[in-house]
Amino acid sequence: MSRLVVVSNRVAPIQEGEATAGGLAAGVLDALRQKGGIWLGWSGNIRDVPEQQPEHIVGAISLFTIDLSRKDYDEYYRGFANGTLWPVLHYQIGLGRFEWVEYEGYRRVNSLFAQALAKLARPDDLIWVHDYQLLYMAEAARDAGLTNRIGLFLHTPFPAPGVFMTIPAHADLFRAVCQYDLIGFQTEIDRAAFLDYAVRHAGGTVRDEVLSVFDRIVRVGVYPIGVHVDEVRASAELPRNRRQATRIRAALLDRLILSVDRLDYSKGLPQRFAAFERFLAEYPAHHNLVTFMQIAPPSRSDIETYQAIRRELEGEAGRINGRFAEVDWVPLRYLNKSFERNVLMPLYAAAQACLVTPLRDGMNLVAKEFAAAQDPDDPGVLILSEFAGAARELGDALLVNPYDEAGVAAAMDRALTMPLEERQDRHRGMLAAMRENSLERWRDRFVADLGGQG
Ligand code: F6P
Repeated sequence: MSRLVVVSNRVAPIQEGEATAGGLAAGVLDALRQKGGIWLGWSGNIRDVPEQQPEHIVGAISLFTIDLSRKDYDEYYRGFANGTLWPVLHYQIGLGRFEWVEYEGYRRVNSLFAQALAKLARPDDLIWVHDYQLLYMAEAARDAGLTNRIGLFLHTPFPAPGVFMTIPAHADLFRAVCQYDLIGFQTEIDRAAFLDYAVRHAGGTVRDEVLSVFDRIVRVGVYPIGVHVDEVRASAELPRNRRQATRIRAALLDRLILSVDRLDYSKGLPQRFAAFERFLAEYPAHHNLVTFMQIAPPSRSDIETYQAIRRELEGEAGRINGRFAEVDWVPLRYLNKSFERNVLMPLYAAAQACLVTPLRDGMNLVAKEFAAAQDPDDPGVLILSEFAGAARELGDALLVNPYDEAGVAAAMDRALTMPLEERQDRHRGMLAAMRENSLERWRDRFVADLGGQG
């Protein structure tokens, strides 16, 4: 049987109890834990003399990691991946910058990953690469002599062609991406945008799920990433988590609106704070009763655009509390740190509403985890941006436009006053949709299509 080899920039902390950096690492970890496989990624270390770390075996997973030099990190991670690609993929063109030298660094580091892969891959391994940091890897792997089937799953959105084309290297990058055998997207919107570029700007033709371009055949599909619905619920139901949820409800006045996001400009935090301020101004009946808790662990904090949003939010949180707080009531709690799952689960379970309002997001697993953690007899309400991939499946959430402050404020009021029966109906709909696209199904469909059995 073919082995599964996963490659991603970030690997999950394998020890139990450690907080993970984002949805990708947690999702891949879960997917690999069940079936086993090999996982190659960056060690997280920056060293003068980068090394490949020794294999680390945890259960059914063999983990291989490589270090990066300072130059690699600056040009690849801080530079092209997160300074250029990330903002463009999330439609934030104004926040992006482009330097050819960083693009070269991105290609060079993708080649480093490919060379490390070539050392450990066997000819019949299936190679599954993840996310925007490694778009160039299939081309580099071919150059390193690998003839395996190689698939890419893009966790982020793929933007409309006109937005993608603001990257000066777009043509070269697109040609490299088409060296993959299978490319998976979160939603049909992303797939359609990719194919639109392929047809209009790269001379491709499309038939069913197959793209013919640059003398290659590339399969292009939609694989929405999911969560383990029953495991999330079971974890929220653990006696210690139930006790903690009860304590949180008592301490936080029983009307908790919760948000959990990496501190990233794509998550729409300033717009969300503004909407909460509008809610406080226009719906005074909730004064002294509501708490909005924003958990936002710092992310990519050595990039200026991330430092700027952090400064902005700190100022706004202080200003909003200064305007509305009373001696015995603080409406906004803003926490800049990450929490383990056993802290988040009781919070999800205790919250009456969860605000997930990114300006753009590939999927957003917080939305799905919140919905899965709810008690079906008395569920909380999900307020979800129509620009999150999750909105394509979770139409039973209260869908909002994150740029519409008044609309988001009205949704907060509606969530906190929604009758039980409507909350139950919406929750049932969301559970059914999430069961349809579980994490297992995401993995199994992608791997089957990559192996040519789909
Ligand atoms: O889930 C999207 C993602 O961009 C991953 O690719 C990434 O690992 C994660 O968010 C966290 O970002 P970073 O690895 O830059 O800390």
